[in-house]
Amino acid sequence: MIKVANICCIGAGYVGGPTMAVIADRCPKIDVNVVDIDEERIKKWNDKDLKNLPVYEPGLAEIIERCRNVNLHFSNSIKEKIHDADMVFISVNTPTKKKGLGAGKASDLRWVEESARQVAKFSSGHTIVVEKSTLPVRTAEVIQSILRSSEEDNELNGISFNVLSNPEFLAEGTAIKDLENPDRVLIGGDNLEAMNALHAIYSRWVSKEKILFTNIWSSELAKLTANAFLAQRISSINSIAAMCEATGADVREVSRAIGTDSRIGSKFLDSGPGFGGSCFKKDILNLVYLAEYFGLNEVANFWESVVNLNNWHQNRISKLVVKKLFGTVTGKKIVVLGFAFKANTNDTRESAAIQICKDLMDEGAEIWIHDPKVNKLQIEKDLNIGKIYNRDSEENKPINKNGRWQFSKNFDIFDNAHAVLMLTEWDEYKNIDWEGISKRMVNPSWVFDARSIVDPIKVKKANLNLWRVGDGTSK
Ligand code: UDX
Ligand code: UDX
Repeated sequence: MIKVANICCIGAGYVGGPTMAVIADRCPKIDVNVVDIDEERIKKWNDKDLKNLPVYEPGLAEIIERCRNVNLHFSNSIKEKIHDADMVFISVNTPTKKKGLGAGKASDLRWVEESARQVAKFSSGHTIVVEKSTLPVRTAEVIQSILRSSEEDNELNGISFNVLSNPEFLAEGTAIKDLENPDRVLIGGDNLEAMNALHAIYSRWVSKEKILFTNIWSSELAKLTANAFLAQRISSINSIAAMCEATGADVREVSRAIGTDSRIGSKFLDSGPGFGGSCFKKDILNLVYLAEYFGLNEVANFWESVVNLNNWHQNRISKLVVKKLFGTVTGKKIVVLGFAFKANTNDTRESAAIQICKDLMDEGAEIWIHDPKVNKLQIEKDLNIGKIYNRDSEENKPINKNGRWQFSKNFDIFDNAHAVLMLTEWDEYKNIDWEGISKRMVNPSWVFDARSIVDPIKVKKANLNLWRVGDGTSK
């Protein structure tokens, strides 16, 4: 039995940080070292003030407080920590390729490759290399071949490797809960001894039935498939929302009705403004690229349609806002509530709000954005129009064609608004005083609720017009 006493994780990001924190917490006898090329990020992980940690997740700061500098260490000492490790996790980012072969779909593996080269160069003795990053199927082969060439060079020094795949399934906002109480842990590999060594780590806190062994390719593909299935459910329910609006049905009732079928299940059936987040689109496009690569064009088209539907749905919402506001939003003030891709995170990656705001500004609207956690600089980056200014405006507000945007952290933004558009399901949006707000808005005015969070009775009582995603009952 291979015994693991020292772990190194390359990549102190959203996945590497929390995952290693939980391993350190649950395995006090293992020394866990998280390394990163980014000095600023490591400084933040080591900051005395736990509010400055680079990742915010409920429960994370408490673990960091318990374990940091006990058996959990963050540093830039990549060479040294790889050298000392019995097991190395690769948890670096794998964004979609921007150029070259597979641009726009395939994952950019340059950092994974670089990490494998570092492991090949610096490790000593026997090392188990664990793919934590989400990767295209058969990436383990690339890692294996880099490591194998090092084994051949170092045969006399007794250097050897095993490669395992151990994808993460944690969602933002619940990462610690997902890690502490996972639905399953997947270990893919072809060497039982190495697989058992990783099993021994997880079995410190995860029951044995939940730890699944597969071959390495199944494990890699299962990760992409899980995200593709989840995203597909959202596109499915969003497509049905459009049907509800056309037919007089209500998507909330349809979701409830189908969700009680135990074969379908009730989760991930909330229609919204379209899925966002760093993973869904990237992973589906990766799957599409792989299917195309293997000549499976129908398979590729099937999964690509999930992304296409999502784009169409976001576009449908902005078009609908324009239509309801008498066919034009030029110069009209629209309050956007929520910019994060979901509640309880400040992450805006692939947020539906980005495209919807851009589309509305293209139509000439004046957007006032509110979000409790996202900051103005991030929005400026996402809308990518921070540097274009309206010469006529005394305040130099950023503009997009004719439209422009403003940001506010407080609720003092409803004066003279023509519409309120709700894009993130933050708790503070659930109990808005619609009566009070209605008096400050232009008459007639609209509430567009893309998250089903308002109380329709209260909104209508406040004399506001209401559109809710998938609500055909008010036709
Ligand atoms: C993860 C997974 O690894 C990715 O495959 C998955 O699809 C999404 O989640 P994440 O942890 O969110 O990525 O990425 P990020 O927060 O960007 O962290 C990656 C870290 O790796 C960064 O801190 C970066 O500096 C570091 N890195 C990158 C290295 O230390 N070395 C490198 O060579 C490249
Ligand atoms: C996802 C997966 O859930 C996780 O397992 C994987 O490891 C990473 O990707 P995350 O991106 O954090 O996690 O968010 P998730 O909670 O899955 O939501 C993704 C998007 O779908 C959000 O924009 C969310 O608002 C949307 N969504 C989710 C819906 O529109 N309706 C739903 O019913 C559920």
